[in-house]
Amino acid sequence: MDRTHVVLPAEDIRRQKDFIDRLASIYCRREHPPMAMVDTYGCQQNVADSQRLMGMLRDMGCRFTGDPLAADLIVVNTCAIRENAEKKVFGVVGQLVHVKEKNPEAIICLCGCMAQQEVVAERIRRSYRHVDLIFGPQALWRFPELLYGVYTRRERIFSIADEHGSIAEGLPVVRESGVKAWVSIMYGCNNFCSYCIVPYVRGRERSREPAAILAEVRELAEAGCREITLLGQNVNSYGKDLDVPMDFADLLREIDQIPGDYLLRFMTSHPKDAGEKLFCAMAECSHAARQLHLPVQSGSSRVLKAMNRGYTREQYLEKVRMARTAMPDIVLTSDIIIGFPGETEAEAMETISLVEEVRYDALFTFIYSPRPGTPAAKLPDPVSRGEKQVWFDRLLDAQNRISAELHRVYVGKTLRVLVDGESGDPSWPLSSRTHGGRLVHLKGDTSLIGQYADAHITGSNTWALFGEAAGGPAPIYK
Ligand code: SAH
Ligand code: SF4
Ligand code: F3S
Repeated sequence: MDRTHVVLPAEDIRRQKDFIDRLASIYCRREHPPMAMVDTYGCQQNVADSQRLMGMLRDMGCRFTGDPLAADLIVVNTCAIRENAEKKVFGVVGQLVHVKEKNPEAIICLCGCMAQQEVVAERIRRSYRHVDLIFGPQALWRFPELLYGVYTRRERIFSIADEHGSIAEGLPVVRESGVKAWVSIMYGCNNFCSYCIVPYVRGRERSREPAAILAEVRELAEAGCREITLLGQNVNSYGKDLDVPMDFADLLREIDQIPGDYLLRFMTSHPKDAGEKLFCAMAECSHAARQLHLPVQSGSSRVLKAMNRGYTREQYLEKVRMARTAMPDIVLTSDIIIGFPGETEAEAMETISLVEEVRYDALFTFIYSPRPGTPAAKLPDPVSRGEKQVWFDRLLDAQNRISAELHRVYVGKTLRVLVDGESGDPSWPLSSRTHGGRLVHLKGDTSLIGQYADAHITGSNTWALFGEAAGGPAPIYK
């Protein structure tokens, strides 16, 4: 699709700002500023989207609350990746009927990936009549106009048309902290892995212009942001649709030129498109964190083919070798699905043997969940849930042992960590991350939050490290 139809004209964004102003003038006639609650499910992309929704709400004059019963406006930003995620949201939305009983003027909105599915919208239309507005991820930038419509037309609004998707620059944003920020570099997905709903709900792959990304990162770095995570469903596809082609490795190098004391992370990197060029760029960029999330999904080449992943077990292992040659200290993580339709026990065990071979620092593991509308959902799936659970538990046992072993190696070392917040645990009051992204529960003063510190690691378990902040803040990166 032509870029001129993808990047929205500034005029379209200005129009939304007009709607924000109109809503602000409705709200300012009220006795109290409206309280808004944004409840977010799913991946970092949804978190980043919610920060834009909050930016728009803030500009309308809203304040924020975490209590639905205190809210005048509730936005539930949903995830459709697995059935459990959807069930949870239906439960939450069902409960919101009490908000409407208490405050009939309250407005309830449902957005995100679930909202984009026709079957979900239909169920909401019929059975969740207290939901006033439903819109998919592609319509997020039109939220002010849609919300204005709810107030002025006094009717329920459904905006879930299947759209290619656009790029909206210049939407306001509320960042969750001054320490960390998400920067979307692209939207959508073209990969159509056979089990996955994302390409159907997030539209086609589209890359932001490098200049827009660089400007956003520069602004964050100048504001003192310490950790910037670049987001895309497959960041390695970045730039394929740009008029002046540029790939993700080039983008990383350009961003790295931006001065500042920040770390660059990114996710997700699809193994089929990751290669030497990216790993060398990571190794040579002084801001790039030594962390690579490289989802393998399965260790069986037959299953990978059925998943439409575009690589074999051997090709994946070769990429891991390449990454480790370029960066011997790289922290590697992955996503795995157990119980893909037709997967045999032997194939599931191939996944475990791959995990043993790679020795990931950590894994995100899932039991396959059929997603209506995807090709895999039509495949015969003869293995029982109970049997899949047994394979899954074996995988977890293997990974837990490996994580514990790898974590133990840190004990006794002093590492530079970024202190990113409070942990809520009085024994280890601070939460921090290593360069490679491992969690360190830290003893130290809360004045270190937002700073780098040298952490002396005193203990570890399967999931995290424990340590003490040594001396004052650590010196800055070059
Ligand atoms: N774009 C990313 C993944 C985003 S979804 C990538 O390709 O790596 C995050 C993870 O959810 C996937 O990596 C996969 O492991 C898991 N997942 C996706 N669809 C699933 C399904 N139908 N059932 C179980 N897990 C699924
Ligand atoms: Fe889903 Fe595959 Fe796209 Fe990741 S790359 S979002 S798993 S279709
Ligand atoms: Fe879920 Fe949508 Fe992310 S389906 S995982 S919120 S892209």
